[in-house]
Amino acid sequence: MLLLLLLLPMSGLVTEAFFGSNCQDRQSKPCTRGCSVGLERHFNGVTNRVLPGHGYRNLTVVSRVLCGRECLMDDRCFSFHYSKGERRCELNGATASRYPMAVTERAATDYYGPEEARFAELLTNANEVPISLTDCWYHTHSSAASECRRTGQHLCLPWELDHASKEGYPATPPSWYADTDSQAVLTETGVTYHDLPLTAQSPGLCCSLPMTYRDPVITPKSYELADRAGQASGCSDLAAHPCSLAELKEAYDRSYVSGYWLYFEIPNREATVAGCNPMYHYGNECYEGTIANTPRPYAYAQVYCCRNRA
Ligand SMILES: *[C@@H]1O[C@H](CO)[C@@H](O)[C@H](O)[C@H]1NC(C)=O
Repeated sequence: MLLLLLLLPMSGLVTEAFFGSNCQDRQSKPCTRGCSVGLERHFNGVTNRVLPGHGYRNLTVVSRVLCGRECLMDDRCFSFHYSKGERRCELNGATASRYPMAVTERAATDYYGPEEARFAELLTNANEVPISLTDCWYHTHSSAASECRRTGQHLCLPWELDHASKEGYPATPPSWYADTDSQAVLTETGVTYHDLPLTAQSPGLCCSLPMTYRDPVITPKSYELADRAGQASGCSDLAAHPCSLAELKEAYDRSYVSGYWLYFEIPNREATVAGCNPMYHYGNECYEGTIANTPRPYAYAQVYCCRNRA
């Protein structure tokens, strides 16, 4: 497969208008590239690749440099396609790093975006790219989480970030992930975490199924016993739902073990996934001989979440 990375320096073309924007979160104002500090100077190209479904305008221009210039002059533009033969310049309202799974091969059309060259390598080596970086930057964890949900994803969990980093996901700016009280930065050497307070808006790191979990995932936060909506939304941020007893048993049968007493699907009960102790857990406190669960729960706990099945 022919892979050719092209670097187009765009400095010179940048105007003040792209900096110092006062963008709001998506809820209050549509996202524009001005929200995403750092997209302005270079476009990296990936030959014979396109990001379908996000083009909003076609132009005819004589070179890819002019196409890049058109993109820079339009605040809605995050990336572009250039077809040399037709001199067609298609402006896109999103980037490949936001929709890595959507990128497809197309002869004679090249994708240009703000991604680092290493990201382009990931795309062209036919790897699954399991995480994506939002194009817009957000002031809050919850608005970043809702942008992930919009595409059926969830804010990445620490182990997912570690995994992505080992798979060669390139460096990111400080970004929202599943922990509400800190931000993650992917670097060449691994993932580092920074506590808030945060002074600037930041992109979110969204993770996709199916890279993720066969096993239950535990919400990063604890909830009050009566806060069923909070428990459900904590799971929903992980593209999951509070596990049923049957799902916990299925996980245990696959040799998942967790000794924590946590909330799950049934209100006012807690479960562990570590087998039943026949001294304490029998009858309806021991589901099918494996999942101990009790009607005497703590007032405050995390939740076992199971992935939503397609
Ligand atoms: C631009 O032209 C290509 C080729 O004709 C087409 O596939 C694409 O949908 C067009 N994009 C827009 C935004 O009209």
